[in-house]
Amino acid sequence: MFYSVPWRRYEGIYETPSTMSPLSIVVLISGRGSNLQSLIQAQQQGALNSALKAVISNRPEAAGLQYASAQQIDTVVVEPARFEGREAYDQALIEAIDPYQPQLVVLAGFMRILTPTFVHHYAGRLVNIHPSLLPRFKGLHTHQRALDAGVEVHGASVHYVTEELDGGPVFLQVEIPVFREDHADTLAERLLQQEHRLYPAAIQLIAEGRIQWVDDNLQFDHTPLDQPLLLDAPH
Ligand code: GAR
Repeated sequence: MFYSVPWRRYEGIYETPSTMSPLSIVVLISGRGSNLQSLIQAQQQGALNSALKAVISNRPEAAGLQYASAQQIDTVVVEPARFEGREAYDQALIEAIDPYQPQLVVLAGFMRILTPTFVHHYAGRLVNIHPSLLPRFKGLHTHQRALDAGVEVHGASVHYVTEELDGGPVFLQVEIPVFREDHADTLAERLLQQEHRLYPAAIQLIAEGRIQWVDDNLQFDHTPLDQPLLLDAPH
């Protein structure tokens, strides 16, 4: 795996020391769950040193739930309709997550705005993948907005979650070129393939202790990370 920042470059396959225990994670999804699948497959292939404890969804029909239970992973549904308001819902979500004692809570297409209570509860151990090169194109319809803005390079970002929607510190991104013939669907499809490389790589950086968010500062290999790392395209 290669990571680069403008002022330094790292290469080499990191071998997780056998003494390092797997990072326990809980993944939250709302739908298809293709990023979830990429995490499960990376874990099974030994590319991600994690122990996926449970998959939790706000929607019972989320396809990712079936995939997870076929892999003997616990699944839980917390349906918003059963709760009065966001605070009550997020409290129920916390009660569903905490028994698994995750070291990291991973949002993988979890399409809900989270309350400050929830975000603070998991401060420093809550990450999200977003289909744009943040800080550009926060929120929805990122591919169409990227096309409308005429960008030549699009991408995806992994960031720690703060109260600001899609606004927390980004530590790893992947880029793809935008072609003249692209439309939102082709762009989304091409980017999704790269998201499936990006998210396992990002969480592996946390599992290895190479990325840390300490006292509101991002650190990479124990030195300040001023700009996101870039996951190179395959070559
Ligand atoms: C992914 O493209 C992810 O980046 C995006 O939802 C999709 C989920 O797909 N997340 C967001 O837009 C969050 N703001 P998946 O269910 O197949 O992983």
